[in-house]
Amino acid sequence: MKFIHRTFVFGLLIALSAKLNFACKDKKEVAPSKDWWETAQFYQIYPRSFKDSDGDGIGDLNGITEKLDYLKELGVTATWLSPIFKSPMADFGYDIEDFYEIQKEYGTMKDFENLIKKAKQLGIKIILDFVPNHSSNESEWFKKSVARDPEYEDFYVWEDGIDDPKNPGKKLPPSNWLAGFRGSAWQWNEQRKQFYLHQFAVQQPDLNYRNPKVVERMNHVIRFWLNKGIDGFRVDAVPCVFEIERFPNGTYLDEPKSGYTDDPEESDYLLHIYTQNQPETIDLVYEWRRVFDEHQRIFNTESKVLLIETYAPPDYTMKFYGNVTTQGAHLPFNFNLITQLNSQLTAEDVKKSIDSWLPEMPSKRTANWVIGNHDKRRASTRYGVEKIDHMNMLVMILPGVSVTYQGEELGMLDGIISWEETVDPAGCNSNSSIYEKFSRDPCRTPFQWDDTKNAGFTTKEKPWLPMAPKYEELNIKTEMAAKESHLKIYKSLIELRKKQTLKFGNYKYNAVDKNVFVVLRTYNNSQILLIENFGNSEEKIDLTKSFPNLDKLILKIRNLGSKKELGSTILANNIQLDKYEALVLTTETVL
Ligand code: NOJ
Ligand code: MG
Repeated sequence: MKFIHRTFVFGLLIALSAKLNFACKDKKEVAPSKDWWETAQFYQIYPRSFKDSDGDGIGDLNGITEKLDYLKELGVTATWLSPIFKSPMADFGYDIEDFYEIQKEYGTMKDFENLIKKAKQLGIKIILDFVPNHSSNESEWFKKSVARDPEYEDFYVWEDGIDDPKNPGKKLPPSNWLAGFRGSAWQWNEQRKQFYLHQFAVQQPDLNYRNPKVVERMNHVIRFWLNKGIDGFRVDAVPCVFEIERFPNGTYLDEPKSGYTDDPEESDYLLHIYTQNQPETIDLVYEWRRVFDEHQRIFNTESKVLLIETYAPPDYTMKFYGNVTTQGAHLPFNFNLITQLNSQLTAEDVKKSIDSWLPEMPSKRTANWVIGNHDKRRASTRYGVEKIDHMNMLVMILPGVSVTYQGEELGMLDGIISWEETVDPAGCNSNSSIYEKFSRDPCRTPFQWDDTKNAGFTTKEKPWLPMAPKYEELNIKTEMAAKESHLKIYKSLIELRKKQTLKFGNYKYNAVDKNVFVVLRTYNNSQILLIENFGNSEEKIDLTKSFPNLDKLILKIRNLGSKKELGSTILANNIQLDKYEALVLTTETVL
C-alpha cells in the first residue's frame, strides 16, 4: 500500500514537471475572455439612405429590418443607427423634436420593436444615436423654455446679450462664438427677448447641462431606450456639450481666431477653446456610463455600450475611456485615420496616425478604427479608389474594433450633388460657389443594392438624394455575383476576424519604407501579416530584417486588381508588390 502510494506520488510529480516544462518551452498563450463589443464588427446605418420599404423615396425601419439578413451574411455583429426619432429634419434627425418617439417617415414604435426582435434572433446588436447637446427648436421643451415655463426656463442657454452702441435698444450676441453650420452661435428670440446658444443649426438650440434637471431628463431618455432592448448608444457631438462658464453679467470670453480660414462665417475661423473640450464633459460621460452599468446590473443583461463622437485632441479624447477608478465610454471613436490622412497618404503617415492612438490609449482599453461616416466624404473618394481595400484591410487587421460606414464594403463613391439638389444645412447655409466644401450630401446618397434604376433602394421615381456615380457596378448584387469585388474582399476580412490571432493576438506595425506599410498579428505559432503598398510604383521587400520570425506565408486575401494567386506561397524575404498592391498573408494554420 505504502509502495503504491509512493509510486503514485512520484509518477504524478514526473507528469507534472513534464507538463510544466512543456508549458515553459512553448509559452502557449491562453485566449483571454473578451466582452461582445471588444471583438465586434460595427456597421453604421444612415437610416434615411439604407433601404426604403414603402416607396416614399426615404429609407425606413422596415427597410433596415428587411436587410438585417444581408448584414448577418456579411458578418456584421453590431450596427449603429443615425437618429430615428421624431424630428423636423432641419439636420436630418440630429434636431430631435421628441426624444421618445419614432419619426413617422421612418416607421412606428411597433416597427422599431420588430427590428429589435429580428436583430436579436440574428444575434446582431442594435445601437441608437443619442443626441444630448441640443434638441429641435420645435420640441416641447424648447417651446416651454421660450415661454419661461418654470420647469423648462433654464433648459437651454439663454442670455440677454450686450447693448449695441450703434443701435440703441438693440442687443449684440454675448460672445463672438460661431455655429457649426456658419454664422453666429447666438440667435435672438423675439418672444423671450434673449439670445439662445446653438452650436449647430439655428434649429438646434443647445441644452443647458449646468442645469441638473437637464442631466436627469437625458438620463431618463437613455434608460427609456435601454429598456426597449437596445445594446447601447453612439453619442453625438460630445465635446460640445459644455461651454465655458458665463461671467455673472451673462457674457462670455471670445474665442481667438484660428488662422485656418479668412471666412469669418465659417466655424473654423475660431479656435473653439471655450465651446468645446471642457473638463465637465468628461465627468458627464462617466455619469452616462454609470447609468449604462446600473441598467446592466439591475436587469442582468449583456454589456450596454457607450460609443462617443469626439473630434478632439488626443489627450482629451483618451480621458473619455475612464481612469483607474472610473469607467468612461467603452469606445471614444478614433477618427485619426479620417482627419490625418488623405489621397496623398504615405506608409509613414499611416504609421504616425496609428501611433497617435494605440500607444496613447490607457492600458486595458480597446482600440477602434473608423474610416468614414455620414459627415465625411466617402472613403473611396477621399483616399482614392485604388486604396479602399487597403483601408478596409487596415481597420480589420489592426487590434481592436472596426467600424464600417454603410457602403464602404462596396467601395461606394461620393455622390455628385448640384447646388439646387443640396439639402444638408452645412451646405445650404453657404452659397452656390462654396457649398461643396461644406455639404455632407455626397456621402449620404442611397445605398446601392443592385444595378436597376435607383439601385434597388426605392421604387419612387426620385429618391431623397440622387444615386452616386458607378452604382451600376458598385452594388450588392453585382459585387456578390462577381468573381472578385470589394465586397468579397470585405467579407473574407470579416471571416478572418473570427480567428483568435486577430481577436487576441499580439501586434507589431511599421512603415517599411515610404510606401509600404505592414501589420503583423501573432498568436502562438499563428501569424497574419498585412502588407500594403500605398505607392504608385513596384516594391521589393525583405521583411525578415524587421520581422525576423517571418518565413513562408500563404496568400489569403488580396486587393482587387492584384494578379497574385490566392493560396500561393510567398517568402517573407522576397515580397514583390505591384503598385497599390495590398496582401493579407498567413501561416499554413491560422488559429
Ligand atoms: C454630429 C453628427 O454626426 C452630425 O451629422 C450632426 O450634424 C451634428 N453632430 C449635430 O448634431
Ligand atoms: Mg420609406
